[in-house]
Amino acid sequence: PANAAAQAAGKLYFGSATDASEFTSSDYYYSYYLKQLGQLTPENSMNWNATEPEQGVFTFAGGDAVVGYAQSNSQLVRGYNCVWYNQLPNWLANGVFTVAELTEIVQTHCGTLVGHYEGQVQVVSDLFVHSWDVINEPFNDDGTWRSDVFYNTLGTSFVSIALEAASAADPNAKLYINDYNIEFAGPKATAMMELIQTLKASGVPIHGVGLQCHFVLGQVPDDLQTIMEQFVALGVEVAITELDIRMTLPATNELLIQQKADYQSVISACNAVPDCVGVTVWDYTDKYSWIPSAFPGQGEACPWDSSYVQKPAYDGIIAGF
Ligand code: XIL
Repeated sequence: PANAAAQAAGKLYFGSATDASEFTSSDYYYSYYLKQLGQLTPENSMNWNATEPEQGVFTFAGGDAVVGYAQSNSQLVRGYNCVWYNQLPNWLANGVFTVAELTEIVQTHCGTLVGHYEGQVQVVSDLFVHSWDVINEPFNDDGTWRSDVFYNTLGTSFVSIALEAASAADPNAKLYINDYNIEFAGPKATAMMELIQTLKASGVPIHGVGLQCHFVLGQVPDDLQTIMEQFVALGVEVAITELDIRMTLPATNELLIQQKADYQSVISACNAVPDCVGVTVWDYTDKYSWIPSAFPGQGEACPWDSSYVQKPAYDGIIAGF
């Protein structure tokens, strides 16, 4: 299986996004393949609207289901996520809170969420959640900061406020910032590198950069490995956190073979970078992929098809490790 191939190559895991809604499937192949993965990311169930729907009222049922499933199968968990502009509860609106209030809101949310899972989850050398995407998608594609409730109120300080709170809640977890379109040279990757340098220089706890890798068929960046090496040179690890490779439907044999080559080149890039610690696909099966609803007319982005049959992409993953 792919996780064994990843570990044989010195990586910590090959895993997938999933959520408890997927656990209700009665399909045998579903659980058969899911249990063989090495790592799970809760796809939506730890987001802010799911975990703190009313201010100060925390609900962990969906996240606990993923973590419980992972524990019973000896799988790592990447906590996901603490601060993101999307999937926020209605109460967390622009212009409602002062700087002091929003600072405390971010501290309470990150501290409570990360603290809830501290020490609960598998397993690298000790008991801990391997990592947390503390910040998700802070930048626009042009490298400017995204204008959201956090940046608009707190400026860039929301990043260190969140990281410090997460670190206090779980000193063993690796704390990441995660984004897309940072997988190739350009203003957004540069902005992320400058942010990492600034955080490091100020002693803020930051351990990793997540490269989402939502790619288009035939357009895997040539410089993916180089970019990862540049992040690592700043003193952080990297991970491929949300890999999928979408195509315009209908899929043809030719497209699926191109997809195999694309998956292989992504995995090979991670493989060539010792501090690229693992790869997560943004759902292993097309059955639950977010792509068709987010990008109408596109799909087939995952390594297993919607009937849980391994696609050529799966062989590309094995070959890449
Ligand atoms: C997506 C989920 O997969 C969907 O189920 C949800 O409806 C929308 O969000 N980048 C991210 C992820 O950081 O959180 C997104 O996940 C996909 C893009």
